[in-house]
Amino acid sequence: MNNINEILKEALDKLKNVGLKDTAVIEDIENIKVEYLGKKGKITEILKTLSSMTIEEKKKIGSLVNEAKIELNTALENKRKEISNKLLEEKMKNEKIDISPAFSFSFPKGHRHIISKTIQDMSNIFVSLGFDVYSGREIETDWYNFEALNIPKDHPARDTQDTFYLENSECLLRTHTSPGQIHVMEEMKPPIKVIVPGRVYRNEATDASHSAIFHQIEGLVVGENVTFSELKGTLKLFINRLFGQELDMRFRPSHFQFTEPSAEVDIKCVLCGGKGCRVCKGSGWLEVLGCGMVHPNVFRAVKYDPEKYTGYAFGLGVERFAMFKYGIDDMRVLYENDLRVLRQF
Ligand code: PHE
Repeated sequence: MNNINEILKEALDKLKNVGLKDTAVIEDIENIKVEYLGKKGKITEILKTLSSMTIEEKKKIGSLVNEAKIELNTALENKRKEISNKLLEEKMKNEKIDISPAFSFSFPKGHRHIISKTIQDMSNIFVSLGFDVYSGREIETDWYNFEALNIPKDHPARDTQDTFYLENSECLLRTHTSPGQIHVMEEMKPPIKVIVPGRVYRNEATDASHSAIFHQIEGLVVGENVTFSELKGTLKLFINRLFGQELDMRFRPSHFQFTEPSAEVDIKCVLCGGKGCRVCKGSGWLEVLGCGMVHPNVFRAVKYDPEKYTGYAFGLGVERFAMFKYGIDDMRVLYENDLRVLRQF
């Protein structure tokens, strides 16, 4: 009996040491199995001696030997699993699979379109000045696009030659981002400081400086003491930041139904510095935006007290800024998506 337990202990101890050495191999385990459970194995040998025992002894020793066999087999099996996992782990640690050949071809990367990039660059400057960004809507009603902006019924902008009206509907495609002013004022109370970038539509033929679809960025600031000089300061800062240089600016009196007084702003041509070139058509100046102080009738339309509040608004043409910034003299280039052009930006 002692003999069996000793043999079993000896086998289990040997098994324990397998894998502690550097060269842990499945073979070591197989060798232990042969040494104890093989045809001439130490445990097998005990079974051979059973024939010379009494029935009582046979039963007792026989079942002890069987238990020892089961225990050792289980231990061997567990060790085998442990070692093969360890070996696999080692292998994974040292093995590097080079997948670079699968990606060794290069493919061209896309990038934002000049117009999207310009909208982003322009918006970022206003955001840094404390403006919020509001999204207007491209389909509008007559009220938002004209009526609330103090544009009378007989104004030429309302003509179908200038505006796209939707069939069988009261709606139209906005002709400017100014209806965004009305939505913002309906939804919020002063103080207001927002920009509204977006796409606008006009019923006109496409040429080098016109397109039926283009982009604007509207600006609106409303408060209790908002002044024209703030409007001038804001626009000057914006233009100098966008072009990265101090540019001469001039405010020309102009007319918009929804601002009073109104002005248009010209900047010294970015490309020739005022000498005259193809982009400024020889004048040395570029017309870049329309602006003014919010008309009291616009405040009345959104139920703001025009005695209490003042405000300024401006509308910037995105395509114009993109063209001036990148020296493009034909607007159509911005929409044709010719890869030879797009790849330059
Ligand atoms: N909405 C005007 C346009 O499209 C621009 C503008 C906006 C002028 C705000 C004044 C104030 O021409």
